[in-house]
Amino acid sequence: MTRQKIVIDCDPGHDDLVAILFAARHMDLLGVTTVHGNNSLANTTRNGLITLELGKLDHVPLAAGCAEPLAQASIGIGEGHGASGLDGASVPEPSRKPIEAHAVDFIIETARAHKGELILAPIGPQTHIAMALKREPRLKSWLREITIMGGSTTTGNFTPAAEFNIAGDVEAAWAVFESGVPLRMVGLNITRVTGFDEGDIARMRASGKAAARVIADLMEFYLGTQKARYGLKVATMHDVCAIVPYVYPDLITYLHTSVRIETAGALTRGMTLCDLRHPKGAQAEHLRHRTAPNCHVAIEARSRALADAVLATLLTYD
Ligand code: BDR
Ligand code: CA
Repeated sequence: MTRQKIVIDCDPGHDDLVAILFAARHMDLLGVTTVHGNNSLANTTRNGLITLELGKLDHVPLAAGCAEPLAQASIGIGEGHGASGLDGASVPEPSRKPIEAHAVDFIIETARAHKGELILAPIGPQTHIAMALKREPRLKSWLREITIMGGSTTTGNFTPAAEFNIAGDVEAAWAVFESGVPLRMVGLNITRVTGFDEGDIARMRASGKAAARVIADLMEFYLGTQKARYGLKVATMHDVCAIVPYVYPDLITYLHTSVRIETAGALTRGMTLCDLRHPKGAQAEHLRHRTAPNCHVAIEARSRALADAVLATLLTYD
């Protein structure tokens, strides 16, 4: 069977690292692009290169992109990932460099070369995706779909309404959700309870594999910040949840409905307003006003099975 083609647009980030390593094992990872978000562009790029070296993914190009959001001011770094954006393990400085191409050009050219096949996975702020869609309008028809980690059907984390990746570039997210490209969204309602606990981290260490030991150190740091900041019980694996359904389709359940980005609310800017009224049939047509379905939004997950599947994949790295 041919492997599904994917480009990951990310801001590593502990959970971004896991998403990249998971995708590389199961899919045709055509490239990684790095954006501002969890840390400065310089650090997310460094952390992306570290991830590729950890996974011995020498064939996967990395293109760096935008250091700032489209229109708004930066919301600052994601402190849960530490000062470097990837605190917790001692890792060598990467020996590789990003390729010359800008992330936006890389995304457009990769989609042009694989028309109808490419899955684009933004797991950080969506600055590049919005820019690429503006710069090359045909991109919309070239992409198979966009799978997003971002937003929430319930509460946010950056504010009570807004999740970090959406809050990091609200106008970009608006452009993506209004673009007409087939969308999938996995938000905090799923991802904040999906991740690695202390037992999982112990299993990584017990494997005796060098890569798993590094990942265990990283996850221990990240579990600590998630517990301290949000009272969570797991090192939240937000980002890989956007990738897993291409490999294990029965672990996450989606609802096809309307998801719109709030850009103007005084208290709710950056909210993903998800229509969960489940309107059905002709009788409910009036409920459809301005809520035509534009997105498959994740509403349920088998979180433990998902974490097990991801852990098993990580343990394939030496
Ligand atoms: C998102 O924010 C980042 O800290 C994570 O990497 C994830 O993409 C969760 O809100
Ligand atoms: Ca991320």
